[in-house]
Amino acid sequence: MTITYLGHASLHIEFDEISIIVDPFISGNPLAAAIDVDELDADYILVTHAHQDHILDVEKIAKNNGAMIISNYEIAAHYSNKKFNTFGMNHGGTYKTQAFSAKYVNAIHTSSFPDGSYGGQPGGFVLTVKGKSIYIAGDTALTYDMKLIPLQTKLDLAILPIGDTFTMGVEDAVLASDFVACNKVLGYHYDSFPPITIDHDEAKQKFSNEKKELILLEIGGTLKV
Ligand code: NI
Ligand code: MN
Repeated sequence: MTITYLGHASLHIEFDEISIIVDPFISGNPLAAAIDVDELDADYILVTHAHQDHILDVEKIAKNNGAMIISNYEIAAHYSNKKFNTFGMNHGGTYKTQAFSAKYVNAIHTSSFPDGSYGGQPGGFVLTVKGKSIYIAGDTALTYDMKLIPLQTKLDLAILPIGDTFTMGVEDAVLASDFVACNKVLGYHYDSFPPITIDHDEAKQKFSNEKKELILLEIGGTLKV
């Protein structure tokens, strides 16, 4: 699969003829000004939780593409009430197709919609495509629940928040990489706002000190798994 970083916690994942967008927050992110939301194609939109910086462009992309929104039960119900095509599940559940599976796993965070209404409990996804698996942590603190993932899934990449303040910071993400048993980490959820600005070189050094790799993509940059 090819993973394109769209800034903040937004990802575009492509394999075969399938296109998945994760947590689209693009039109509200000045750093992602080069990305045109209307040009993004999507068959599915994965939503980890209901915060504005994860759902801002969900409706636009879903409308443009007729994409299915996959999330927790409450977020799926919210979009289903607005006549979008959705699949709602809860923690531990997996959306399965011939081409991929997406399991909704635990995160420690909160999940209200921008108007304050309940957005269910937040989560992350373990996405498996043709024997390759990636962990998309979503917004989360370091949590022992991460240790459950490698009991069932050998990860090829862990996508972890590293910006601190609203999620784990770099030190905790290094431990999270241990917990999920994956030494190859793509960092996200950093630099978008002043409280989550990080020193890139220092962050990479902290991972390499533990014989781990931290990848920080330019917005629009891609990574193959
Ligand atoms: Ni959040
Ligand atoms: Mn966030």
